[in-house]
Amino acid sequence: MSGRLKIAISRERREDEPRVAATPETVAKLLRTAPGVEVCVERGAGYAAGIVDTEYEAAGASVLPETAAVLDGAAIQFAVRAPPDDAIPYLPRDAVLVGMLDPYRLNGVLETYASAGLTTFSLELLPRVTRAQAMDVLSSQSNLAGYKAVIDAAAEFERAMPMMMTAAGTVPPARVLVMGAGVAGLQAIATARRLGAIVSATDVRPAAREQVESLGATFIGVDGPEAENAETEGGYAREMSESYRRRQAELFATELRRQDIVIGTALVPGRPAPRLIDADMVATMRKGSVVVDLAAEHGGNCELSRPGERVVAHGVTILAHRNVPGRLAASASALYARNLLAFVTPLIGEKGLRFDWDDEILAATVLTRDGAVVHPRFRPAPSDDGAGGNA
Ligand code: NAI
Repeated sequence: MSGRLKIAISRERREDEPRVAATPETVAKLLRTAPGVEVCVERGAGYAAGIVDTEYEAAGASVLPETAAVLDGAAIQFAVRAPPDDAIPYLPRDAVLVGMLDPYRLNGVLETYASAGLTTFSLELLPRVTRAQAMDVLSSQSNLAGYKAVIDAAAEFERAMPMMMTAAGTVPPARVLVMGAGVAGLQAIATARRLGAIVSATDVRPAAREQVESLGATFIGVDGPEAENAETEGGYAREMSESYRRRQAELFATELRRQDIVIGTALVPGRPAPRLIDADMVATMRKGSVVVDLAAEHGGNCELSRPGERVVAHGVTILAHRNVPGRLAASASALYARNLLAFVTPLIGEKGLRFDWDDEILAATVLTRDGAVVHPRFRPAPSDDGAGGNA
């Protein structure tokens, strides 16, 4: 590549994706810290996140109307989601594509990236190491989702959240149960507490107990040897055994009757979300209570969730918004764009892009390079049917 190193930000193509992968702030920072770089933004790329084209121009980017022109000659494309197949041919061979590519659901598309010669990085695969914290897209987006879940629940709930003592009598505080106390769950706990609710939370990882309690919530959970080993080396939860799930279900069957709001955030990477609330449990919940299922797009923590829909069953409202961070598109884009900048900046050298493939951050996130799918979790085994692994 001769001349300047071109970074392209095209408009997200999915209808349900209002976020954008760069903001005027990150564009300006990029141009300041990497003098050999030029940034090209597609017209309207930031509209849904509240950013107008002139703000990108003021930050030093050029704004072009056509996707093809934006991607032409680009060394790197910044994306929120995986771009559709029809946009791939515009990128030159050897270009880099960085985004939240959701590789577990990219059936077949990875091969398209590989044969187009693209080097692709999926930021959801970042290791949870200290050096990667500034790049951690799962944390930045889950944190906002946890907050928004409680706001959505409060808006739907027909009672007040805090206890109110008035001349007309006392309004009792709402009871909120948060299922899954990772990044989203902990923010949901903090938000519900700030609104004055009585909050309890559950998780399979023993480390979660202390974090839940430090936020002033009550921890409920199933003890035993399996719980002691529920956390993987990467800090994520394992899928639990049938007998553990049965004991958990017994616990929830009692707890759910007492709750006004339930926020489901439980996930297991690369697996369907654990089903924690079945239809029978919903039937026992108080009328007027609200379930917000942040895990809905991964199969749902609640059996009755329907992604993108508001379901009312047995007098209980079940919300399953898609792309919850996108419901706070300006904040989510601001944080995501900073995560992406932190990932890309070390790759930009004086003579162009440079990759240290021994670096644990690059090794964990690279999906395709040199014409092949290289990530061990997604590389088809020689005798495989092409479905990829799921370690
Ligand atoms: P996640 O989004 O994969 O899952 C959400 C939560 O659901 C997790 O806490 C998980 O333990 C829980 N869960 C899974 N199955 C469950 C079940 N059957 N019942 C109840 N709960 C269940 O997790 P997230 O939010 O990405 O966090 C994973 C871990 O990574 C946490 O320990 C978090 O503190 C840690 N972390 C570390 C960072 C670092 O840089 N060191 C940055 C961000 C997170």
